[in-house]
Amino acid sequence: MLVSGRGSNLEAVLRAIKRRRIRGAEVAVVISNKPGVKALEIASRFGVASVVIPSEGLERSAYDKKVSECLADHGVEPGTGLVLLAGFMRLLSADFVGSFRGRILNIHPSLLPSFPGLDAQKQALDYGAKVAGCTVHFVVPEVDAGPIVLQQAVDVREKDTAETLSARILRKEHVLYPLAVKLFVEGKLSIEGRRVRIRD
Ligand code: GAR
Repeated sequence: MLVSGRGSNLEAVLRAIKRRRIRGAEVAVVISNKPGVKALEIASRFGVASVVIPSEGLERSAYDKKVSECLADHGVEPGTGLVLLAGFMRLLSADFVGSFRGRILNIHPSLLPSFPGLDAQKQALDYGAKVAGCTVHFVVPEVDAGPIVLQQAVDVREKDTAETLSARILRKEHVLYPLAVKLFVEGKLSIEGRRVRIRD
């Protein structure tokens, strides 16, 4: 899993694996582009290997090459592995995305295609949206644009601030992301153009 910060979605996935809600999968390594973040503590608490690969000053393709090497060192290979982005605040190169085509998932705190990019919850609030939410999608080189696996809506309340709305969306993220991973691991997802089919 690739992370940059708090790691609450990482924790939700690790917990789902520990409780055997997701079976037949393990998190091989947590890679952070930032040192000292909470996600690294969470990985260690769950006994999962973690590696910091600082991104500052590195070109995208050079950085992604390091990430690919680190994934391979931990047995995560294109064609078999699954790469989960969980609050990983960096774009991935077309080469990296191409090599793991159909095997990278991301969670984003909006109902895509509305409000891609940074501060999605604040974007929704500022726009005056009445419904916000979160999306799990396959990653393509364009930002937050890949085929959608699952979405969950959250009502925007009169008194919401970016913080209160984010907190309510986050609680839904913690359910949605493990569920999407479970469906992937069980081989129930197939991508047909822009649509992701989910087999029962
Ligand atoms: C989550 O809300 C996630 O959806 C968002 O960052 C937060 C990470 O929290 N991701 C993006 O905005 C990606 N564009 P976490 O580190 O506690 O999982």
